[in-house]
Amino acid sequence: MKAAIRRATNRFLKNEKQNRERNKRIEINNQLTFMAKRIFANEASKHVGEEIALAGWVYRKRESGGIVFIVMRDSTGILQIAVKKDSVKEKDWQSARDSTIESSIKVVGTVKQDERAPTGYEVSAKSFENVQVAEPFPITEYQSPELLLDKRHLWLRSQRMTAILKARSYVFRYAREFLDKRGFFEITPPIITMAGGETGADLFEVNYFGQKAYLTESSQLYAEALIFALEKVYSFAPSFRAEKSRTTKHLAEFWHLEPEMAYYNINDNMRLQERLVSYIANKLAEHEDILKTVGVDPETLKKVKPPFKRVKYEEALEIINSKDSSEHLKWGDDFGVPEEKLLTEDEEKPIFVTDWPREVKAFYASPNPKDPRTVLSDDMQAPHGHGEIIGGTERVWTYDELMERIREFEKAKGIKFNLENYDWWIDLRRYGAVPHAGFGMGLERLIKWLLNLDHIRDAIPFPRLINRAKP
Ligand code: 4AD
Ligand code: MG
Repeated sequence: MKAAIRRATNRFLKNEKQNRERNKRIEINNQLTFMAKRIFANEASKHVGEEIALAGWVYRKRESGGIVFIVMRDSTGILQIAVKKDSVKEKDWQSARDSTIESSIKVVGTVKQDERAPTGYEVSAKSFENVQVAEPFPITEYQSPELLLDKRHLWLRSQRMTAILKARSYVFRYAREFLDKRGFFEITPPIITMAGGETGADLFEVNYFGQKAYLTESSQLYAEALIFALEKVYSFAPSFRAEKSRTTKHLAEFWHLEPEMAYYNINDNMRLQERLVSYIANKLAEHEDILKTVGVDPETLKKVKPPFKRVKYEEALEIINSKDSSEHLKWGDDFGVPEEKLLTEDEEKPIFVTDWPREVKAFYASPNPKDPRTVLSDDMQAPHGHGEIIGGTERVWTYDELMERIREFEKAKGIKFNLENYDWWIDLRRYGAVPHAGFGMGLERLIKWLLNLDHIRDAIPFPRLINRAKP
């Protein structure tokens, strides 16, 4: 008796196991056929008359006369789906009716040309499945900028933000592509550092095992160390600035491209910058669909070609003062947002502002042998007041001159330079030092200009602003 029960139990368990395995195989097969048939929204025109599969999210929905029309979106765009009561199983019809805005869906159906559909193509569904029925979406048509920042994680899927994110990815790609083609090596500097870099005033402090360290403001000093091994390098990394500036062009965390080149002088440096920026602008101009969504005319980007105008700081002062009688900029003043706007409002391409007063620029900027009041430095200013996108200099490369510049810097700022944290960098001037130059380009500043964005926060998915580090 006991043995019979045991045999029956074993048989039952074996059947169960076989069933489970069979179901699993069917599931895998279904998924494989689904993925084999899957096309993206922007590929519909190539599959007219074919049975295809789609996966995405509900963008718009309406129901009329036994048909649910769903405009779905995926990473490539939108596409209309028609789910007809009579053409699908009852379960799928119910699913289509239950589906809500932003629900995730899987569809199998046939592509047809249809003038009335938003893209000219429609898919008649054979099957329709909600992967997850979304709760009521918290973002509707008209929303305050604050709410959109609170719900940033959801807002990023909007058509406009999706287009900006794609453009951002291309800008990163083309920047790397340009430098890689020219024999540069990409380097990876540390983010935690003891040596501040720029003014030292805007550093985020880190408790580094009980010692004071900082989040990097610039990777320049490390890039300088690496030119002795690799000659032409660039780092692509976040930089951090605890600036209390509440402007449309300041982020507390931004992506910084910093090339550094052995044996380059300030002119070689500027030539590289204008070519890099033109390359990125021209390549981005090819993405007409993305630019259209953001509202940018590709022609304006195609016009960005070297050479860029070079204006000495002293001339820039005159231009700004002459344009606005309330401006009384004097030698040694830096430019803020209003001054940058006056200077570049009529420009079509970026311009260089060169020959800055030595007290304005950092201690590593090389004095100008032709004009000792100035240093060999350039700021690239984007047109239409989008502001400074690049800061570059020829570096001080001899030991004695560097020590002199550091003392000058201490006096001007009324601070004591912590030489201990910079000894390794100063050392570079003692072992086969060479003239060299480099620059830093803020990727979000560049994107803000290229896409003509009102605020830098839209150039980065999760902006770190003075009052915001979430989401
Ligand atoms: O002009 P900056 O401060 O120069 C440097 O950091 C140099 N060490 C770079 C180098 O020579 N390797 O910064 C360079 C660029 C600016 O022109 C701007 O584009 C960007 O970095 N930037 C910012 N972008 C967004 N938010 C901020 N708070 C930024 N501060 C600088
Ligand atoms: Mg600068």
